[in-house]
Amino acid sequence: MTDARHIKNITLIGFMGTGKTTVGRLVAEQLNFEFLDTDALIEERTGKKIADIFAQNGEPAFRQLEAQLVEELGMRTGTVISTGGGLPTNPENLVTLKNHSLVFCLWLTPEKIYERVKDQTHRPLLHAADPLGKIRALLISREKFYKQADVLLNSDLRSAREVAQQVITQYRAATKTRR
Ligand code: S3P
Repeated sequence: MTDARHIKNITLIGFMGTGKTTVGRLVAEQLNFEFLDTDALIEERTGKKIADIFAQNGEPAFRQLEAQLVEELGMRTGTVISTGGGLPTNPENLVTLKNHSLVFCLWLTPEKIYERVKDQTHRPLLHAADPLGKIRALLISREKFYKQADVLLNSDLRSAREVAQQVITQYRAATKTRR
């Protein structure tokens, strides 16, 4: 951690279906932090579902909305920020988030991700003929971004509650000397 960082929030990154929202809500509840989900806030502000933004405006327009939102988040304190799975693929987003957040990446195997998302329909990038193949390909191309997180947590063998506890422990350790 460099001295330039002023850690006052928690950011969760990771692929679709890795549990960012569930874990984020648990962490926020226990730390008495506010919970913010970038996808939900984009939907609220645009009045459109993410799938409709992709279909009507295209993925680049969605990525721009994400980047604009990330710019605003440094104003916040005591917030758990759960991010859309593709948000860290813009390296500037992660640099900005790291200025004020401890960044955790939740990690799962492609097979586990597929199991979790296969019956859901709201993710436009997984509307593919071979969703598991798409998950594998996207994970390979995104791995280098996800690994920029401060802490990488395998959420495979742990419950959401256990993952949340790990996030809290690491956040407390990282911010202790600064209190
Ligand atoms: C995306 C992940 C989604 C959402 C959008 C694009 C991605 O968020 O932002 O469908 O590029 O991985 P979740 O990770 O919350 O599903």
